Amino acid sequence: MSTQLKVFMKGVLLLGCLFPFGLLNHHAVADDSTIIVQNDFEDGDTQGWEPRIGDEVVSVTSADLHSGNYSLLTTNRVNEYDGPSLNVLSKIDKGSKYDISVWVKLAPGETTSNVQVSIERQFQGTANYDTIVDATSVTANEWVNLTGSYRLGFDVDFLSIYIETTSGTASFYIDDFTITFISPLPIQKDIPSLKDVLADYFTVGAALDPVETLGVHAELVQKHYNVIVAGDAMKWDTLRPSESQFDFTQSDIIVQFAKDNDMAIRGHTLVWHEQTPDWVFQDENGNEMQPTPENKSLLLQRLETHIRTVVERYKDDVDTWDVVNEPIDENEPNCLRQNLWYQITGIDYIITAFRIVREVDPDAKLFINDYDTTVSSKRTCLYNLVHDLLDQDVPIDGIGHQMHTNIESPTGAEIDETIQLFADLGIDQQITEFDMSVYTNDTDKYTTVSEEILIKQGDRYKEIFDVLKQHKDDISTVIFWGVADDNTWLKTFPITRLDLPLPFDEQLQAKHAYWGIVDSWLPSPTPTPTVTPSPTPTATPSAPPTPKPCIPYSIVTDPTELEISTKESTTITVTIIGKGGCPVTGQIVKAKIGSEDKERIKIKQKEQITGTNGEAAFKITAKKMTGNANITFKAGDLKTKVKVKIVN
Ligand code: GLA
Repeated sequence: MSTQLKVFMKGVLLLGCLFPFGLLNHHAVADDSTIIVQNDFEDGDTQGWEPRIGDEVVSVTSADLHSGNYSLLTTNRVNEYDGPSLNVLSKIDKGSKYDISVWVKLAPGETTSNVQVSIERQFQGTANYDTIVDATSVTANEWVNLTGSYRLGFDVDFLSIYIETTSGTASFYIDDFTITFISPLPIQKDIPSLKDVLADYFTVGAALDPVETLGVHAELVQKHYNVIVAGDAMKWDTLRPSESQFDFTQSDIIVQFAKDNDMAIRGHTLVWHEQTPDWVFQDENGNEMQPTPENKSLLLQRLETHIRTVVERYKDDVDTWDVVNEPIDENEPNCLRQNLWYQITGIDYIITAFRIVREVDPDAKLFINDYDTTVSSKRTCLYNLVHDLLDQDVPIDGIGHQMHTNIESPTGAEIDETIQLFADLGIDQQITEFDMSVYTNDTDKYTTVSEEILIKQGDRYKEIFDVLKQHKDDISTVIFWGVADDNTWLKTFPITRLDLPLPFDEQLQAKHAYWGIVDSWLPSPTPTPTVTPSPTPTATPSAPPTPKPCIPYSIVTDPTELEISTKESTTITVTIIGKGGCPVTGQIVKAKIGSEDKERIKIKQKEQITGTNGEAAFKITAKKMTGNANITFKAGDLKTKVKVKIVN
């Protein structure tokens, strides 16, 4: 039995849920979320949980518990994937976001195991598995909370959440399982569309997963982009689970979305050394290929079959292909990455790939795509390779610069030099995977990303887009590697950490990075007086430009929460920051507290106007000896909350 419970999750709970990494510095906070499944086993019932495979025994027990008097124990597991499972077919809708939480503890005497939360989805007899919470170490000594989020991107006729181990078959307890529906914030409809802002320069797009063709993500993509790329759906490991099998389920969803919305599609990617299944490089006996003439011919033939099938299928829809991805290694004497394609076939894999795509779809634009093309040694390698291939009449139409940047590197000047260099080849260029990490190394890890860094990111977006715009005759498209900060590969690469590299935040709202592209917030340049030369010796200053308005963007407080004693009063400073980091002056800020909280704290002056630094200071005094209170600060549509704890 599951409980339908509408809750208005406020304060820490809400924010912890919406911003799992603690990003609190934006005004965009959804108002409510709903717990749709809650299993505590307190009625002695398994509440729908059952053995997943059949050997397992699932029973309610009072032997241990996370809260209340009961939990659910699973014993007799034979396989790692055996465990308790719950049918959620009628609970989870396609496209919506759900947070999943469960407490887990191993049964007495069991040795530490990695436990994960998974979901099995089936459609018309075909099963697929997604991980909701990655394998997490659990012991028999304490309860561990496993939490994660899930969005279903596909049609299903069977959907079951289950708890499993990734090694061993330990018996374990679960308790206090919840599924919470997360209400999405609407996208901002009244801001300029990037595709309009950039219309005079290049087309603009994003890489996306099938689930992002639904809901608010789809709306954001429809509003801002006129090109899309499949993030993973057109890679070998998705399209070719085995040599005899093509699976177009995911790629078809992306292509259909583009067609429905009149968007162009970049195909990514036909040959790469990563995300390519092992069978591709195994000989006919299933052994790893050695570089022999037979294996070369077998591998090129597999490549040809793959390209003919995929390009033929999408020739009316995909107008550009990343034919070969990441072939360069600037540390090799011949500049070519010594991947398995190269080891078995030499450079022929590159030449064959381009020639076959051209033959199957003579109209498609064919790209060679690589990263770090702004690094001088690497771009020289790429330049020389493409130059040689063009000399051999290999049909290459363009250079793809992945352009995974960060808030310091590469500089605008390095990008400028790079584009200029390749312009000399007389072929097209595209920015194919743009994003901008907030880190400049592989080790730093923030729990929140400061406003200052996000502003810097906005400046860097502007710097880079200014350079790209200057090269509008050389660059035909700019693609972001992701729709919004809620789904970026940089959250797990090079390490697991909070990263926010895209123009839209985790709630799909425009960031400083977005405004860096749109450019509207930037302070006008300081006017330089122009001196008219003789015979008139008077200096004529040019007319001062009209200052651009500082549009309110976010509200921050200092401190963000506080402890206060009855013996003293404290000041909270509230600052309103505009797009691009300008301080919003003259804005009315209101402080609100609930009626019960009014008995605990007092605010001297509840409404103030921001001063020259965009800030207003509120004096708070505690009335009682102990207790908690919340103060909500509002300025126009922006609001934020400060938790006050009264201590003796
Ligand atoms: C490379 C690939 C992309 C993608 C990114 C990271 O740049 O070309 O397909 O996998 O890495 O997500």
